[in-house]
Amino acid sequence: MSSSKTLKVAVVGGDGTGPEVAAEGVKVFKAVAALEGISYQTKDFDLGGDRYLRTGEILPPGVLEELRTFDAILLGAVGHPDVAPGILEKGLLLELRFKFDQYINLRPVKLFPGVETPLAGKGPKDIDFVVVRENTEDLYCGVGGFLKKGTPDEVALQTAVFTRKGCERCIRWAFDFTRRRNQKKQLTLVAKTNVLTYGHDLWWRTFQDVAREYPDIKTDYNHVDACCMWMVKNPEFYDVIVTTNMFGDIITDLAGILQGGMGVAAGGNINPEHKAPSMFEPMGGSAPKYTGTGKINPIAAISAAAMLLDQSGFEQAGARVMRAIQTVTGTKMKSQAAGKMGYNTQEIGDLVVEALK
Ligand code: IPM
Ligand code: MN
Repeated sequence: MSSSKTLKVAVVGGDGTGPEVAAEGVKVFKAVAALEGISYQTKDFDLGGDRYLRTGEILPPGVLEELRTFDAILLGAVGHPDVAPGILEKGLLLELRFKFDQYINLRPVKLFPGVETPLAGKGPKDIDFVVVRENTEDLYCGVGGFLKKGTPDEVALQTAVFTRKGCERCIRWAFDFTRRRNQKKQLTLVAKTNVLTYGHDLWWRTFQDVAREYPDIKTDYNHVDACCMWMVKNPEFYDVIVTTNMFGDIITDLAGILQGGMGVAAGGNINPEHKAPSMFEPMGGSAPKYTGTGKINPIAAISAAAMLLDQSGFEQAGARVMRAIQTVTGTKMKSQAAGKMGYNTQEIGDLVVEALK
């Protein structure tokens, strides 16, 4: 993507505190776009629990097709206290991941200066790795069913789907990413080959095959349970991790708390070929009890905006936002916890804008 083109960003604030944090992401995005001479358009989309409760619609086909015309989506949060769990997650978040074939879930795990980690004796130089999570297969495909539902003989099946194409494209992207990141040049496959002897055997063989194309990248393997232990004991060991969808979901919450919590952690749902929009989101969730209080931390949403820029071909602007975030966490914020930041949500956005200059 060239910088002469107009970057079209769809903003889906979503539920709870989602719109508030997304607004700070947009504020910083617009500020850095002005400084870097990036031409852009943004448009807000009313999607989420409130619309669903009002109209019964989650993602009407016309909206999906309109979203498809954008380069990227900035998402606030999905999850409404009055909507049963699973409806919005599957109908909106997972639907967009699948329909737009966002097959990479990119989760940088970086402890910013001034941010507290629960790991004793570890600092920013120890906690700096990236998880590349496959984002379109595994238990997330919704393949399964019930037999004799509601009877004492009930059977429930939930099938994990793994394909050669699906794991190969993710693994190859992870190798490329590790090369571009250019740090330890080490890629760790996280799976469970000792138990999942079919699905994860496919991952293991594919990882070995693709590795031959990357002789400059050191390869490594952890079972997922051991990875949880190592991540707490020796996080500095990791550079890039590539893993399956379900395990990636779990280990990135563990990783998220190591980097200071869900107010800081951001994720990207990426369609690397730009055949459909990629989507960037803070990991914090909708935090309904904080809605409208100005207490919620927008750092993750701002960091999601930085990732949006970076992945859309505006690496310099993305890096500029990341530097500004670290100035603010390192020199201004008292804490990353909601209500304890020393500033309100909007003030944090303003401080990051100020630090861009
Ligand atoms: C995440 C979230 C989602 C997931 C939920 C909300 C469906 O936990 O992005 O990690 O499981 O992928
Ligand atoms: Mn998750």
